[in-house]
Amino acid sequence: MTTTSPRRPGAVTAGGGNGAPAPRRATISERTLRTDRWWVQPALVALTLLAFVVYSTFRAFQNAYYFAEPYISPFYSPCIATGCQDDTFPHFLNGPSFISPALYILVFPLGFRLTCYYYRRAYYRSFWLSPPACAVGEPHRRYSGETRFPLIFQNLHRYFLLASLLFNVILTYDAILAFRDQTGAWGHMGVGTLVLLANATLLWCYSLSCHSCRHVVGGRLNNFSKHPMRYRFWTLVSRLNTRHSRFAWVSLFGVALTDLYVFLVASGTITDLRFF
Ligand code: FES
Repeated sequence: MTTTSPRRPGAVTAGGGNGAPAPRRATISERTLRTDRWWVQPALVALTLLAFVVYSTFRAFQNAYYFAEPYISPFYSPCIATGCQDDTFPHFLNGPSFISPALYILVFPLGFRLTCYYYRRAYYRSFWLSPPACAVGEPHRRYSGETRFPLIFQNLHRYFLLASLLFNVILTYDAILAFRDQTGAWGHMGVGTLVLLANATLLWCYSLSCHSCRHVVGGRLNNFSKHPMRYRFWTLVSRLNTRHSRFAWVSLFGVALTDLYVFLVASGTITDLRFF
């Protein structure tokens, strides 16, 4: 025989507190009752992402002005095709020279950003209006989540994370090479060195603050006290993780501005200021 404990007077139940069936959700004919300018944020996100896509697409297809000894643009690094202007990485792809070297590697940074949990939220809201903002009705009638083609590919994020870590190592290597001068002699530094260093640092912060990284470092553990090293890494990554959205934006601007700097130096528009 089963027994149930008597309900306390005033106890709240799923049905609304009086034991009656839960009421249906309120039917609101308005798309939203919000009176603030809720559309500003999704609009700004859409404009910023569009601007980045237009700029990066132009630069990736331009196939020029991406190397100014000793600096290389992050859009073209690692430059692994034989048509590369640089000498920073082994060229082992024998593709036709009219194909920009940036196109060979584009899928990795692009895939990492596209499948990022933070960017998903941003572009689902801004481009698909799904939903456009909190407490604002969405135009779509059905929601199938990320269980079907093409959104099921979002689950590749953890693999893109591994690729992004490799890219970060390469971009850090590029930043170290930037401590040379135009003749290849070591022990020199210019504004470009600082720009490449800042870019690599921001990309490390973005990758290490990734939700998947946090799971890789500290996930699936039942007992942190038995894994003190992983606990320390997990604590560090968790701290970074609280700023992930900020790192996502700052590193995006960082990549674009680093490329722009190399472009301006390589095209002769500006001269790199050398400190020593
Ligand atoms: S969640 Fe944003 S990079 Fe992984």
